[in-house]
Amino acid sequence: MEVKIKPTMGLTVILIFMACNTDSGKIIAKSDHFKLKVDSLLNIMTLEEKIGQMNQYNGFWDVTGPVPNEGDAEKKYEHLKNGLVGSMLSVRGANAVRAVQKIVVEESRLGIPLIIGFDVIHGYKTLSPIPLAESCSWDLEAIRKSAQVAATEASAAGINWTFAPMVDISRDPRWGRVMEGAGEDPFLGSKIAAARVHGFQGDDLSAINTIAACAKHFAGYGFSESGKEYNPVDIGASTLHNIVLPPFKAAVDAHVKTFMNAFNELDGIPATGNAYLLRDILKNKWDFKGFVVSDWASIKELVMWGYAKDNKAAAKIAAIAGSDMDMESHIYVSELAQLVKEGVVHEDIINDAVRRILTVKFELGLFDDPYKYCDEEREKEVIYSPKHMDAVLDMAKKSIVLLKNDNQLLPLKKEGQNIVLIGALANEKNSPLGSWRIASKDNTAISVLEGMTEYKGNNLVYKKGADVTIGNTQFVNELKINTTDRSEFKEAIDAAKGADVVVMVLGEHGFQSGEARSRTEIDLPGVQQELLEEVYKVNKNIVLVLKNGRPLTINWADKHIPAIVETWQLGTQTGHAVAQVLYGDYNPSGKLTMTFPRNIGQIPIYYNHKNTGRPVADANNPNLVFWSHYSDVENTPLYPFGYGLSYTTFKYEGLKVSKQKFSCAEDITISVKLTNSGKYEGKEVVQLYIRDLVAKVTRPIKELKGFELVNLKPGESKIINFTLNKHNLGYYDNNGDYAVESGDFEVFVGGNSQSTLKTSIELKQVLY
Ligand code: NOJ
Repeated sequence: MEVKIKPTMGLTVILIFMACNTDSGKIIAKSDHFKLKVDSLLNIMTLEEKIGQMNQYNGFWDVTGPVPNEGDAEKKYEHLKNGLVGSMLSVRGANAVRAVQKIVVEESRLGIPLIIGFDVIHGYKTLSPIPLAESCSWDLEAIRKSAQVAATEASAAGINWTFAPMVDISRDPRWGRVMEGAGEDPFLGSKIAAARVHGFQGDDLSAINTIAACAKHFAGYGFSESGKEYNPVDIGASTLHNIVLPPFKAAVDAHVKTFMNAFNELDGIPATGNAYLLRDILKNKWDFKGFVVSDWASIKELVMWGYAKDNKAAAKIAAIAGSDMDMESHIYVSELAQLVKEGVVHEDIINDAVRRILTVKFELGLFDDPYKYCDEEREKEVIYSPKHMDAVLDMAKKSIVLLKNDNQLLPLKKEGQNIVLIGALANEKNSPLGSWRIASKDNTAISVLEGMTEYKGNNLVYKKGADVTIGNTQFVNELKINTTDRSEFKEAIDAAKGADVVVMVLGEHGFQSGEARSRTEIDLPGVQQELLEEVYKVNKNIVLVLKNGRPLTINWADKHIPAIVETWQLGTQTGHAVAQVLYGDYNPSGKLTMTFPRNIGQIPIYYNHKNTGRPVADANNPNLVFWSHYSDVENTPLYPFGYGLSYTTFKYEGLKVSKQKFSCAEDITISVKLTNSGKYEGKEVVQLYIRDLVAKVTRPIKELKGFELVNLKPGESKIINFTLNKHNLGYYDNNGDYAVESGDFEVFVGGNSQSTLKTSIELKQVLY
């Protein structure tokens, strides 16, 4: 049989092809084909070469230039040549990736291509809104497409693996990484996890425009104690199985190719060395076939945690626990071979890890052509393409949440108005790009000022008012916030005096959320609250446009400001999206996926909390203190999960169940009539919640179990149907097993987690 081999490919590929094509000439199924190829490759690898596949290095020099001799760059280069590196991260651009790939393919003994990883979190260069914002669209197809756009651009720049989606559920807005997730709910989080995996990976991983996805951070990272980055996590079994794990399981079901473990410890065991998570749950119970990469240096950090006495012990613990690839600890490559030789780590563990890694490389098609993702022409064509600009604009508009709109101040009139726009963030072209935008060019966002300027019918005046940050803002450095300089307040206040409407763009800089950006106060940073209050004294007609990467405490604004729009960091097309919403060319339909607290002391505050034994005050003696509450703030949040307004209004009526009592073999239908009772065409996210009234493990007072995005013209109605059965009425017990119990449930349908119609159902005897 004739075997075609790329001239650049080494000995390995010849052997693999021979091994796979001698099966009596029969066509072998694709997955078996990969298995045969992986096995035959594994057979000829030395132990050191196998461990090399488990080693991942960060990009280290301008790879298209000479090799420097400072730091550990030289060592990395030598390791690449010697087949001791399986992956690199953060090398980007078709040219640069080709250069590193060429070293391993042409100079290492077996020529095994690298898998190139990168944090393509909300876009590569053309940026979508931050993931938390996208989740507020509740639009799974739009979210899938957004990931697809990111994959198309990244894959053209040589990248074949993204470290996304982050599927960590979090209830703590102090934690800066909430910007990267999908909010607080495991049901919605699971749907979004699957949509993002499908968007990145497509139907065919070997296609040139798809990349492998990575569900991270396994597990519990979103529950970092006190919202402080990298802190321990201490949660019970019920929270782990019902809240934290479901989105990861959804990613596995969506065939995600890789997992990343978390920096945190979980109940005393660091996630990177946690065999219960990695082996028992992920690889055994869930039968995950892909590979697990550590987080950056998290294997080495087992020593700092006090979980391993030295690097060698850390390598042993992580490998045995099931961490297949070492991101930048450099210790698999230095320690594992000796551990295997000493019989401390069995070679089967190494073989299993390498099999997983090689399989993904085969699936990506890297063995067919290691340079397939390095196409300068395609890179030029797709990056910042008009098609991608349209896609991220669409996503940006869908991510905006209207929080308040008294007296229908919004949408703004398009003509004859004096509008004053205030706030440093209104004139920002960098901050709206968000936190994870490493590849994108600085200052490439359309600012709100630019977006508003395109509407010519009004007289628009811009005043900064005050800076949010001081000096240079950089991804890797701590930000300096302006807490003293009010020198431009007066100009802004004077301008606001005579305006018909004042639009104030206030909030966080894009680098105030994201990794290692925890805050203990989550109000408007710096002098912005003062600025807002000063402007309010001279003009009450204020539209507050919020820019932030987490829920904020904005009690004062909610009480006084007539219109508030949550616009997050919306990416490249920020200004167009905001202006189109403010002017009513797009009717906002986003709904919050994280609760907004009234104050920091309420945190963690989330809609699916438990009832407690004392949920309400004694009706006969309301002054009695012995019930679950605070004495200085009410229990309710400022804005609940699922909340968001529209320029139109929606009416819910006629909640019905097809059968009040039903067996575990039956489906029941919940239906409700939704009417657009206002003046604008608009979209509503119809939400279905349940409450399991009595169970062997107590259940939350509400759990989201379904939602539908419905578009209606003014006056139009539609019947919305949801199906419920034993598959959505159960829960995970404290052993992590799915349990369904008979009994009574309440069912709620409405436009947010608090305002719902209610009925009840009964699940009769459960037969398994
Ligand atoms: C650390 C972060 O926790 C992780 O999410 C990211 O993918 C890696 N660094 C690589 O940049």
